[in-house]
Amino acid sequence: MPQPTPEQLRAALATLADPASGRDLVSAGRIDSLQVKDGLVQVALRVRREEAAAMEPVRRQAEALLAGQDGVRNATVILTAHRDTPAQTPPQGHARGHAHGHAHGDPRQQPKLLTAVGAVIAVASGKGGVGKSTVATNLAVALAGRGLAVGLLDADIYGPSLPHMLGVTRRPEVRDDKMLPIKVWGLAAMSIGFITDPDTAMIWRGPMVMGALQQLMEQVAWGKLDVMVIDLPPGTGDAQLTLAQRVSLAGAVIVSTPQDVALADARRGVKMFETVGVKILGLVENMSFFCCPECGHRTEIFGHGGARAEAARLGVPFLGEIPLLAGVRESSDSGTPIVISAPENPAAAAFQALAASVQKAIGR
Ligand SMILES: Nc1ncnc2c1ncn2[C@@H]1O[C@H](COP(=O)(O)OP(=O)(O)O)[C@@H](O)[C@H]1O
Ligand SMILES: [Mg+2]
Repeated sequence: MPQPTPEQLRAALATLADPASGRDLVSAGRIDSLQVKDGLVQVALRVRREEAAAMEPVRRQAEALLAGQDGVRNATVILTAHRDTPAQTPPQGHARGHAHGHAHGDPRQQPKLLTAVGAVIAVASGKGGVGKSTVATNLAVALAGRGLAVGLLDADIYGPSLPHMLGVTRRPEVRDDKMLPIKVWGLAAMSIGFITDPDTAMIWRGPMVMGALQQLMEQVAWGKLDVMVIDLPPGTGDAQLTLAQRVSLAGAVIVSTPQDVALADARRGVKMFETVGVKILGLVENMSFFCCPECGHRTEIFGHGGARAEAARLGVPFLGEIPLLAGVRESSDSGTPIVISAPENPAAAAFQALAASVQKAIGR
């Protein structure tokens, strides 16, 4: 069944009333973002902090409405507030620090997050669709297989991929005000996509999407971790910056495909992290070459070696090549990372080699 278009979903949301203005949600300007991909719908409703409680029933209604549309497999609606939302700005002269004030002020002045984790690694890419989530997931699983306690955090608030890639349909449990990460494939994993249950979704009230990312770090009982792998959204936006400022990153792994366009984006990613003082652990070339599963013959569909050359140009390490193989996509779609589902697959071997390089680079 074809998935609905964003316009169709907006039209559906326009049938819901906005309690504050008496208008509908769309014309009241509540729709902060709306994304639909593979039948998974993610919507953020813009609210002021003090409206969060009143808007929670509307959030649930919207979620149920969207989930009931033809072609929608799952819908997540979150409430977000923005820095520029007037009611959220502290009055002049009253800018006192408060316990959860991380939505305000200069993020570099705020206490660091994830300080209990041995090494936090950001997996980033200049553009989407290069296999960043696939690399992050398999890297994390392979690191866990090497005996490390590993967390995997999906920092993509609007387009989370971990539920799909890890095959997770459970909801995180809440204990003492914190969510417990989902234990899967030897990892402790967390994604906003795990949270569609109305009760746990209450946790998401309030501060904007960056707040949501910070809550995924702070309000999750991660436990003792040697390594945390963070799957970032594509590009060089707010999530990347917040992370670079709020977390002491051991470094960033940049994923690229061999094509020039992807490499140009990867270069921007490298520069961005370098600008904010984050070490580049290296570049990974994904979908590097095609290995015929029948005869083992190598075909370089997108050209090959571009990322290695680019890494040399940028003076950053080259961490390896992951072949383009149908098995990688199949295992992602079946919810079992290929490192586990087919350890003999050349791509799984490539992920193992990547994990070994990364482990060495972070000195664990
Ligand atoms: N090496 C690979 N071989 C085959 N398919 C791949 C490979 N890497 C990623 N894919 C597939 O490409 C698609 C995009 O990958 P994904 O990891 O979601 O990218 P991103 O996180 O960069 O948007 C997915 O369907 C994934 O299964
Ligand atoms: Mg992704």
